[in-house]
Amino acid sequence: MNAPLPAQVLKQHLIDPEICIRCNTCEETCPVDAITHDSNNYVVDPDICNGCMACVPPCPTGSIDNWRLMVRSEAYSVQEQFGWEELPKEKALPVVEEATAAGLSGAASDDASDDASEGAAPPSAQAAFTLPGASVPPWSAAHPYVNLYTHKAPMTATVVGNYRVTGADTESDIHHIVLDFGELPFPVLEGQSIGILPPGVDAQGRPHHARQYSLASPRDGERAGYNNLSLTVKRVTEDHGGAAAHGVCSNYLCDLAKNDTVQVIGPFGHTFLMPNHPRANLIMICTGTGSAPMRAMTERYRRRMDTGENGKLMLFFGARTERELPYFGPLMKLPRDFIDINLALSREPGQPKRYVQDLIRDRAGQVRDLLADRNTCIYVCGLKGMEVGVLDALRDVTMQAGQDWSILHDVLRREGRLHFETY
Ligand code: A2P
Repeated sequence: MNAPLPAQVLKQHLIDPEICIRCNTCEETCPVDAITHDSNNYVVDPDICNGCMACVPPCPTGSIDNWRLMVRSEAYSVQEQFGWEELPKEKALPVVEEATAAGLSGAASDDASDDASEGAAPPSAQAAFTLPGASVPPWSAAHPYVNLYTHKAPMTATVVGNYRVTGADTESDIHHIVLDFGELPFPVLEGQSIGILPPGVDAQGRPHHARQYSLASPRDGERAGYNNLSLTVKRVTEDHGGAAAHGVCSNYLCDLAKNDTVQVIGPFGHTFLMPNHPRANLIMICTGTGSAPMRAMTERYRRRMDTGENGKLMLFFGARTERELPYFGPLMKLPRDFIDINLALSREPGQPKRYVQDLIRDRAGQVRDLLADRNTCIYVCGLKGMEVGVLDALRDVTMQAGQDWSILHDVLRREGRLHFETY
């Protein structure tokens, strides 16, 4: 049993700036807004953090899971943390009588995942309330490797393909980029992501941080048996508000030529993984480049189409128009008895505006049948705004059948069957 910490000792929550890929997941997840960032680092405010652990499971790199026993009055401030390039060395606590009595020496633990700070709400309860999706993978998921290559020791990959997968006359410039790792191992699973280190420096003269991209190819490579993978990258030319903005990494990637080299870190992600047991069904819900992991999972199923191992695939895919929907051509060539495709087009001339959540409601019967099967996992990837809409739609289709969504939602999270990756 963990003894309480004395009042003057704080188990300070820190984020490792060397591993963090600045994906914003922790800041979005924190139920008490203790996490913030500047252009350099993501940091935890020691005056706000209650150690609830809600941010720990969703972190794709594990950089969030760092803790130091500190004299409370000497806790690292937010400003100090903004300036870090690496975590400070652990300091021995001065001998605090109560701390010693509580069985705590000066050595701080780096692994606090079994033990939240004193005074915090029960971690599992908080995490369950905060997260819309699961913080564990499906029970049968394969073992993922993470952080094999880091900022300090990245892997060099070679570009072997880069082509546009949206209509040339549209505003959505989305590229399919294939990276080859040659002889070096880079083991990945569908649903994982990698980090790309764009060359050059930021406005402060520091090297750019890594940008995270989901894999669009399955575990055995973009081309089966090759040591390569693919990404789906949208060229960023404006910010969320529509003002002109130049995406540093997306423009770098979209402009790469064959045989160029790229610095890669990762892989990342240990929960948004596909089930590995026979006849597992997948409901995949995505918008735009959120289609990358769905392409990876679909391709994994396609390659074993004749084995009899596959369950059902149901896809809800949102885009402005058909020509702005990445991979439209290859997707539409897949056999209808292999995958149930539902396209939600929001700006197709002459057609009513449709979002993925509208189509989930249209297909309520089939969605419900799949949800009722414990072999079904649901994956949602794409625009942040879709998260609430999709949850509402799943709740509606469940309740229409007289079932309790809150019970089913809890089951789906607990069993690692509902996963979100939104941005
Ligand atoms: P919209 O035409 O209203 O922007 P994008 O091309 O910007 O990546 O978006 C992909 C698709 O997701 C578009 O069809 C877009 O519609 C749609 N979309 C935007 N907001 C939401 C939302 N809250 N829920 C579901 N889909 C959305």
